[in-house]
Amino acid sequence: MKRTKIVDIFGPEAPVGSEVSVKGWVRTRRGNKHVQFVALNDGSTIKNLQIVFDMAQFDDEQLKPVTTGSAIHVTGVLVESMGKGQSVEVQATTLEIYGTADPETYPLQKKGHTLEFLREKAHLRPRTNTFGAVLRVRSALAFAIHKFFQERGFFYLHTPLITASDCEGAGAMFQVTTLPLNDLPKTENGEIDYSADFFGKQAALTVSGQLEGELGATALGAIYTFGPTFRAENSNTPRHLAEFWMIEPEVAFNDITDNMQLAEDFIKYCVKYALDNCRDDIEFLASMYDKDLVERLESVLKDEFVRLAYTEGIEILEKSGKKFEFPVYWGADLSSEHERYLVEEHFKRPVILTDYPKEIKAFYMKQNEDGKTVRAMDVLFPQIGEIIGGSEREESYEKLLARIEELEIPMKDMWWYLDTRRFGTVPHSGFGLGFERLVLFVTGMTNIRDVIPFPRTPGNAEF
Ligand code: 4AD
Ligand code: MG
Repeated sequence: MKRTKIVDIFGPEAPVGSEVSVKGWVRTRRGNKHVQFVALNDGSTIKNLQIVFDMAQFDDEQLKPVTTGSAIHVTGVLVESMGKGQSVEVQATTLEIYGTADPETYPLQKKGHTLEFLREKAHLRPRTNTFGAVLRVRSALAFAIHKFFQERGFFYLHTPLITASDCEGAGAMFQVTTLPLNDLPKTENGEIDYSADFFGKQAALTVSGQLEGELGATALGAIYTFGPTFRAENSNTPRHLAEFWMIEPEVAFNDITDNMQLAEDFIKYCVKYALDNCRDDIEFLASMYDKDLVERLESVLKDEFVRLAYTEGIEILEKSGKKFEFPVYWGADLSSEHERYLVEEHFKRPVILTDYPKEIKAFYMKQNEDGKTVRAMDVLFPQIGEIIGGSEREESYEKLLARIEELEIPMKDMWWYLDTRRFGTVPHSGFGLGFERLVLFVTGMTNIRDVIPFPRTPGNAEF
């Protein structure tokens, strides 16, 4: 008999009275000598399927290996459930054991483990309700992202993971090398001789696909990237990962106003997609961790995002009378406490902050006429702070070159990027969305380590 996924058991395709074959992992078993109840989960839905074993038809020995964590196959008849909490259940006729899970050693034996404990068990935590829900939402959001861009005629561009240029200029890159680390070849003046390295030059894992994305946008018109990104910044915070996924649309002929609208439409589309398609998981997470979750997601859809210049944002923060951990002044890089004050307390909705001082933003951003600020835009979100960072790009060859020289960015690494401004340059804009920050927002989780299956953070690459 063909296996039915549990998600479909609760759907219209599996009518009461039909015979079904189900497979999954045992969450719990309870009961007495007459009847035993197993809660079965196969990962297809947050819902467990109740299996009822009439102990007149099974013997105790048969059910002994059916413990929490074991994998089983049951056939039986789908019947309406008398018990509370589920609409249907399976009256078992056959039982097959695939794999046992020794109660003495299975780490997820009990319910209610803390998220910290589960981080230590990252190899098994997908089997919990919480991580099942988070991972299903994550998958749905990834699909929504492709859907959003594909429906709007954007092309998916694969930018390289190994690169020789530092897009954000932060210098927090993981080096990629095949040189023997205990016996490095040296040049005459004692420096490492990268000409002997695999790529013939120093290479690293990318911090952003943007620069290559701009090459795509100035050819295909509108592209997006969606891939892993690596940053070796030593920030051990609930919002930073060393390996995270980023979505970077880049659009020729878009100015910063278009860019802001695209960002707002994009996030709203993703949040709505999750609300429409992951309702059970989101409601489960809300009940467990964050009772305001659904309301917060819906409120983001309702309101238009505030558009505010950095200079005005600083004024609001200065006048707030709040004691912040980090000082606020014109020129300061905002930290998440400042961002969250603007969003959660002052405006009570998402804010797009624009026109930041050029000193705190990357070299490629379009310079404003005031000579002090650039056409940057950060989208700030409740609970999260910065969820998107982007800008209109400097399309003038001369101005871009001057900025590169001013910041002493090694020119020889940048020649190909500058060619976009030498040949058929156009106004263009783009942004980067941190995928895990979006998943954090949608799931209501509070630590970024809990929304990626295998988090990479300083000192942590075990699983
Ligand atoms: O603001 P960032 O550094 O912008 C860029 O990389 C640009 N090249 C994007 C572009 O214009 N195409 O990063 C973009 C977003 C941030 O807003 C944040 O959501 C996320 O990426 N992000 C991180 N997420 C998790 N862990 C980290 N260490 C992150 N660093 C940035
Ligand atoms: Mg940023």
